[in-house]
Amino acid sequence: MEEKLSESAPEAFEVRVLPDSESLAEEAARKFAVAATESVRERGLFRVALSGGSTPRLFHRRLAGASVAPSIAWERVRFFFGDERCVPPDHEQSNYRAARETLFDPLAIPAANVFRMRGEEEPHQAAAEYETQLRAQVPSETDLPRLDLVLLGLGPDGHTLSLFPGTTALAEKRRLAVANFVAELQQWRLTLTHPCVNAARRILFLVAGAEKSDVAAKILGKRAGSRALPAAGVKPRSGSVLWLLDRAAASKM
Ligand code: 6PG
Repeated sequence: MEEKLSESAPEAFEVRVLPDSESLAEEAARKFAVAATESVRERGLFRVALSGGSTPRLFHRRLAGASVAPSIAWERVRFFFGDERCVPPDHEQSNYRAARETLFDPLAIPAANVFRMRGEEEPHQAAAEYETQLRAQVPSETDLPRLDLVLLGLGPDGHTLSLFPGTTALAEKRRLAVANFVAELQQWRLTLTHPCVNAARRILFLVAGAEKSDVAAKILGKRAGSRALPAAGVKPRSGSVLWLLDRAAASKM
């Protein structure tokens, strides 16, 4: 059955559980298409920040697949990134490389429409450059660039983007993008900050796998200690948050 792609205004906060990772990816692709259609209709372009990690791979493949891709005006989409590892763009850990392989190449997205974080550069300089890019490419409302959609993942420790517990980026209240050293990984990262993400119109968490079940239950159940977790700090000022989980990730809710 052809599902309608236009939906009423999204709920400010919604949690949906899908049976498995395949149906999670399919629903996420459908939500992406709805947001893209609305953004292009209302603003001429769709400005979206992609998430890193492994969960988005299946989602990207669904998005580029025959059931969803034809419904999206890809030439009107501008791609940004929520975070990046400080590695070259062809490195196996690069979020840009993963998106290129699973989304940009299959859809023949022009390089000019992709604004990657330059992980190969000195981290603080790269973060400053990215902030400049965001301000140049994304229209602001009350002085903050307002992305149409930000896709987010969730780590078992409650991190999202590259906002890890106990790292300096969590204290950032002004800048849109920062360099962040993650001691547990002994790795520099580039990441959007809470102020940047919380200015977005729509936020979509994709959470799959049993290893996320404890932290998902803690955050979504507002249990003791959850408020300090980076993913719990994602509270858009005037946007919507949709959590999509598979049954394994939601098993302790
Ligand atoms: C990254 C991320 C990170 C990721 C979570 C979940 O660059 O790694 O953006 O926040 O979304 O760690 O990762 P998985 O999808 O691999 O579980």
